[in-house]
Amino acid sequence: MILETMLTDWMRKVFSGVLEGTPIEPGRVVVVATADGAFGDYQCNAAMGLARVARRKPVEIASLVKERIDAARSDFLERVEVAGPGFLNLYLRTDWLVEILDQIAVDVRHGVPRVGEGRTVLIDYSSPNVAKPMHIGHIRSTVIGNALDRCYRYLGYRVIADNHIGDWGTQFGILILGYRNFLDRDALRDHPIEELERLYVKSYEQARQSTEWMDQARQELVKLQAGDPENRRLWAEFIQLSLAEFETIYRRLDVKFDLIRGESYYHDQLAPMLARVMEAGIARESEGALVAFLEEEKLPPAIVRKSDGAFNYAATDVATVLSRVAEFNPDRIVYVTDERQQLHFKQFFAICRRLGVTVQLEHVWFGLMRLPEGTFSTRQGNVIKLDRLLDEAEARAAALVKELTPEMEPERQTQVARAVGIGAVKYADLSQNPQSLVTFSWDKALSMNGNSAPYLQYAYARMASLRDKYRERFPTGKPETFPLQMTEPVERVLALALVRFPETLIRAVESSKPSLLADYLYNLAGTYSTFYQNVPVLKAAEGVRESRVRLGGAVADVLRTGLNLLGIEAPERI
Ligand code: ARG
Repeated sequence: MILETMLTDWMRKVFSGVLEGTPIEPGRVVVVATADGAFGDYQCNAAMGLARVARRKPVEIASLVKERIDAARSDFLERVEVAGPGFLNLYLRTDWLVEILDQIAVDVRHGVPRVGEGRTVLIDYSSPNVAKPMHIGHIRSTVIGNALDRCYRYLGYRVIADNHIGDWGTQFGILILGYRNFLDRDALRDHPIEELERLYVKSYEQARQSTEWMDQARQELVKLQAGDPENRRLWAEFIQLSLAEFETIYRRLDVKFDLIRGESYYHDQLAPMLARVMEAGIARESEGALVAFLEEEKLPPAIVRKSDGAFNYAATDVATVLSRVAEFNPDRIVYVTDERQQLHFKQFFAICRRLGVTVQLEHVWFGLMRLPEGTFSTRQGNVIKLDRLLDEAEARAAALVKELTPEMEPERQTQVARAVGIGAVKYADLSQNPQSLVTFSWDKALSMNGNSAPYLQYAYARMASLRDKYRERFPTGKPETFPLQMTEPVERVLALALVRFPETLIRAVESSKPSLLADYLYNLAGTYSTFYQNVPVLKAAEGVRESRVRLGGAVADVLRTGLNLLGIEAPERI
């Protein structure tokens, strides 16, 4: 059950009853979880928004609502309070919470409904460019996109994860020319991507100095696009080398795609797309180029085909949408890229709309992340460097694990260190509001007492060990046969947090913010540690002890599931 939804539906009915005759627009009455228990468990501010249409003071409306609620007996509500100018603070009945928690504790899905059943979402993420540096934008796209991918799947959506590789851009003319003139075969064998990048950079510099070189590069590109066998062969080789390199990163990050389709896949669909665009009167000729004028959408014009006849990025993206709609009929297409592409997405979404495309198109953008000095630079930064970042994460995590669990077998330590190191890098990214600029720091990413993956993983391992200890001490004990009891306030806080898992996950997906899930997990672990430090578990009397073991077990399950949804492993021991 989704508590927020259930409470919202109920509250809307109460408001309609109180304000008979006043039209209440959908979305006017919403109930949301409070951030602070001092204002109840849930809160509703609708009286404020409805004051004008109802021609009444907010506090009057709120009081009428309270009266009506007080007059009826409720299974779930303990009491309601009117606060300040007209806020309604709701307090849930503890016995009702326990009932819900009882169901959640035995449910492998922790009460999360499959709200996406029967719906399809295509997520376009990672999408690096062949033979060009995989920059930090691609890494963030990979980590954020993959977390969304996992969350959508969990909610029951059919997900198509599509890695839209940049394999058809102008870089190929330059690269082919570089390859012909400066190739170092040994380097290509030993470090293919570094060598391709070197060739690209060197040739690019030549092109900047000499128009002749630039012209030659253009000719190579034209030959490639026209199907010249030699250039096609080189192109295919570049792609294959790049993909192999990307694949090593994806494997380390445990990222899997359903499709890896480059821009080139849509090449043949560009001309028919253009015909549709022209026929619909969306674009017209301007100085030799074909340009979509988007005044109605208050957007600057978008070039669809350049004056030299080449199609550009927007054209490929429009053709890609048409192809995806025809092939998969998705309900939603989500793109994950850095903030610099916002205008591009607005423009080609507008063109799609004008073509009558109805699929929901969403651009999830994020700010760039700053990495420690020397780890990454776009100039020579590349996947090899990302490899080194991950190596360093694992090495630092290994030291941490050795310190925490010196007695663990070395082989197991290595496995755990991998989970912790990779988890730390991912979480450092996912725990931030995607749209803020963040600086990555090792201290923060690996902190044992801050908002980090190792902190959460360690919390999980301690919860797991509590279960083990219980089994050791009480081998015949059966906690699941004892009822849950809320004897201490912190137990109720934990119970409330657990029943909020479904609504949190749904909100994280709907707002495309994995950080909401990360925040939730961090708070959950923090509340658990207050519980664990202040409330006896194994030393408590029988019955209370089993209840607490069950509660701790439910927290552990939700924490593990939540971490996995962010693409982070939760080892049983650290
Ligand atoms: N390859 C692009 C880049 O590196 C990102 C592509 C994102 N996806 C898309 N359909 N435009 O900037």
